[in-house]
Amino acid sequence: MDNYKREDLLSLLPYKPAKEKEVIRLHANESPYDLPEDLKEAIFERVRKENFNFYYDPSCDELKEALSSYLGVEPEKIFVGSGADEIIYDIALAYAGPGREVIIPVPSFSSYEIFSAVSGAKVIRVPLLLDEGPEGCIWKLDLPKIKSHFKKDEPQVMFLCNPNNPTGDYFNDSDIFELLEDFNGIVAVDEAYFEFGGKTLINMISQFPNLVIIRTFSKVFSLAGLRIGYAVAEENIIEEFYKVKPPYNVSLFSQIAAVEVLKRMDWVEDVKEKIIRAREDLKAKLKKLPGVTVYPSSTNFLLCKFDMPRDVVHQKLLEKGILVRKPEGKEVENMLRISVGTAEQNELLVKAFEDILK
Ligand SMILES: Cc1ncc(COP(=O)(O)O)c(C=O)c1O
Repeated sequence: MDNYKREDLLSLLPYKPAKEKEVIRLHANESPYDLPEDLKEAIFERVRKENFNFYYDPSCDELKEALSSYLGVEPEKIFVGSGADEIIYDIALAYAGPGREVIIPVPSFSSYEIFSAVSGAKVIRVPLLLDEGPEGCIWKLDLPKIKSHFKKDEPQVMFLCNPNNPTGDYFNDSDIFELLEDFNGIVAVDEAYFEFGGKTLINMISQFPNLVIIRTFSKVFSLAGLRIGYAVAEENIIEEFYKVKPPYNVSLFSQIAAVEVLKRMDWVEDVKEKIIRAREDLKAKLKKLPGVTVYPSSTNFLLCKFDMPRDVVHQKLLEKGILVRKPEGKEVENMLRISVGTAEQNELLVKAFEDILK
């Protein structure tokens, strides 16, 4: 059977989600807040009236209308997928593929590499630069290195995560514009964490017709379990995604839930405010601990560097019932990525750290 396997995928490792039970989940950058009961009820009430035996809207029209109002973008420029993950997959399938190259500044979100490789494309990883200057720690794009891989006569794809997972903050605006200007191909800017930082390039899609914005309902909208993401781009880019997507990729439950959550922006705003407040509070407390460096964040997680080996810190936290993430990559090898939880969870985390690091 091994003969039947794709040779180019032999060394690819599948994504390994953590499966720990009964822990405080600070490893997956989820929202710590589930939907309130009345909002769940509004979703169930609508779902109950639907025919489960029929396929549901393959183009997600009601959700695109709702997103159009939220974003101030025409529905034709919006494409909905089963999580931002599927959007990344569709970008790779539609615009990368065999014989093409995908440029990815690293460390970053692992799906870019996995789905690019699965599409058959060649992945080019360009390490970020860390500037530990007087203004704090800033992760920067290595513009000359990235540009050295540009091919003027062959279309390529580039993924930029902004703010970046796992480093936590935005890249320099002018660096991104420079790349958008010079690149011969699709630039996918992943704004999964947009709501926690507030900066977006959505309003630039007409100026840069090669720009695709990626967003998700898994973070501030608290719907990670229902798998909803979307892309925003000019229509002639979006058209290509419809060619590669599975026909009924977003379930009726997920489409309805997303529409109903968008009707409750007061609740979403409240979640956002609570998470941002908790992030700043957690950051201040972690910074006071001995041997810990905390990087700037415009997301719902904090990247921290430790004087102690990170495996030890990770394991000791786990023994205390707290799961955090060991991000992959040489650049972040003694760091942990910690999702911001509720105020109570964060308090337990700080207490655990005080114990471990003393
Ligand atoms: C940068 C980034 N993009 C995309 C995703 C995946 O989002 P989704 O749950 O919508 O697939 C994540 C998840 O953590 C992420 O960090």
